[in-house]
Amino acid sequence: MKNLPFEPFKIKAVEKIPVLTKERRIQAISDARYNPFRLKAREVTIDLLTDSGTGAMSDRQWSALLSGDESYAGSESFFRFEETVKKITGKKYLVPTHQGRSAEHLFFSALMKPGDLIPNNAHFDTTQANIESAGGRALNLPCAESRDLSSEDPFKGNIDPTALDKVLSDPANHVPVVLMTVTNNTGGGQPVSMANLRSVRALCDKYETPLYFDSARYAENCYFIKTREPGYADKSLIEIANEMFSLCNGALMSAKKDGFVNIGGWFATDDEKLFGRVRELMVVVEGFVTYGGLAGRDMDAMAVGLMEALDVSYMRQRVEQVGRLHAKLKKGGVPMINPSGGHAVYLDANAILPHMPVEHFRGWSLTNELYVRGGIRGVEIGSVMFMKQDPETGKITYPEKDLVRLAIPRRVYTDRHMDFVAETVIDLCGDATQIRGYKMTYAPKHLKHFIAEFEPVD
Ligand code: F0G
Repeated sequence: MKNLPFEPFKIKAVEKIPVLTKERRIQAISDARYNPFRLKAREVTIDLLTDSGTGAMSDRQWSALLSGDESYAGSESFFRFEETVKKITGKKYLVPTHQGRSAEHLFFSALMKPGDLIPNNAHFDTTQANIESAGGRALNLPCAESRDLSSEDPFKGNIDPTALDKVLSDPANHVPVVLMTVTNNTGGGQPVSMANLRSVRALCDKYETPLYFDSARYAENCYFIKTREPGYADKSLIEIANEMFSLCNGALMSAKKDGFVNIGGWFATDDEKLFGRVRELMVVVEGFVTYGGLAGRDMDAMAVGLMEALDVSYMRQRVEQVGRLHAKLKKGGVPMINPSGGHAVYLDANAILPHMPVEHFRGWSLTNELYVRGGIRGVEIGSVMFMKQDPETGKITYPEKDLVRLAIPRRVYTDRHMDFVAETVIDLCGDATQIRGYKMTYAPKHLKHFIAEFEPVD
C-alpha cells in the first residue's frame, strides 16, 4: 500500500477534551476581555489557535528525551541535532535557539541597521515586529495571484519577482537580506514554488544580496513542490529540501512547526562572519552556543522530529487532513483562501461579514463567535494583527485581508473533530448577520493581538 488510506500512526496516549456549556463559554470570553489569547486552555474544546508547539510527539521523540546530554557545553545532543540540520540544509554553521523569534532577534540584530528594508513574500507578525523594533522596515511583496483569495493557483505563497527587482534596483533602498517564508503563513499557508525560489536567487545574485528562508513549515512546502510542481513527483522530500536550501545563504526555523517539538528553533548559515556576530550576541541573551536556551533533551527531540516531518506518508496525511476540512467548508459555501494550504484553513471574514464596518474587526468578531458557538479557538490574522496607526495624524489603516485561521496541530485531532469544526463554521456563516462587532479598549505598541482587550459594540 503506497498511499495509505488512513493515518500512518496509532495512538498511545490520549488527553481528555474540555467541554463547557454555552453559558460558560459566554462568561469565559467576557472574562478574557474578548481576546481568545486570554482564554484558559481548559475553556477550549477544539484548539486551533496555532499549529506551533502543539503537535503530538512520537514515541521515538519521547524516547530521545532520555538520551539528552545536559552538559553545559559541547553536549552529544547538540552534535546529533547539528548533524540532522546539516543533512537537511547543508549549511555550515548552526546555533540552536529556544524558538523562531529568538533566531529572528539574533539574526536581525547581527545584520540590520535602522532604516534598512527587508523584503519577503509575507512576513510573519513576530518577524515584522523584530525588524521594526530594531528600526527596520518590513516589506511584503506577495505575488499577484495571492490577491484573489478564491483563485486555485497552486503556488500563491510566491513573491512577486518584478516587484522585488524594483526594490533591489533602487539605490535609495538599503536591503541587507531578502527573506522568503516557506510556506507563507500570513498569506494562507500557501506554498512557494522551486521556480519562484530560483528566480529570487537569481535576483539576489544580480544585486549581491543574501537570501534567507524563514523555514518554519519548510517540509510542508517540500510536499507541495512534490505534488504540485512539474518534475518533482518522484523526488523524496529530503531531496527537495536539499535542493531548496541550496538556493539560500542560510535559514531560520521555528521547530515548533515542522520540527514536531513543543519548544525549539535554530539559525543556520554559510556566512562565517555573520555566524560570529550571532554567536557573540547569543551568549548574552540566549545561552551558550551549543544549547541556545534549550535543554539537551529538547535538541534530541528536535533532531528526531525534523526527520519525521520528511516522512512522506506522515506528510500526506497531514496535508490531506487540512484539505478535507477545506473541501467540506467549500462545499458548505464558506468563503476562504483557495486552494487548501499546508497547516490551516483561512476564513475570509470580509466576505462572511460584509455588513460589519471594518473598524468593528470582522475577523476578530468571527473568531469570538466561533468560540461561543462551538468552543473552537481560531486566530484572527487581519485587522487587529496588522492595523497601522500614523503616529502624527492618528489615522488608522486596515489591511486588505481580514482572515480567521484555523490551524491544525500535527497528529492531534481526528477527522471527526474536523467534521465538527466544519459543521460549526458552516452553521455560523449561515446566520452571520447576527454577529456583533467589537471595539478595542486597550492595546500595547507591538504585537497587539496577544494581549489587547475588547468590548462588544452595541
Ligand atoms: N516564522 C513563521 C512563518 C511563523 O509562523 C512563526 C510562528 C515564527 C516565525 C515565529 O516562531 O513562535 O517559534 O517564535 N508562528 C506561530 C503561528 C506562532 O501561530 O503561526 P516562534
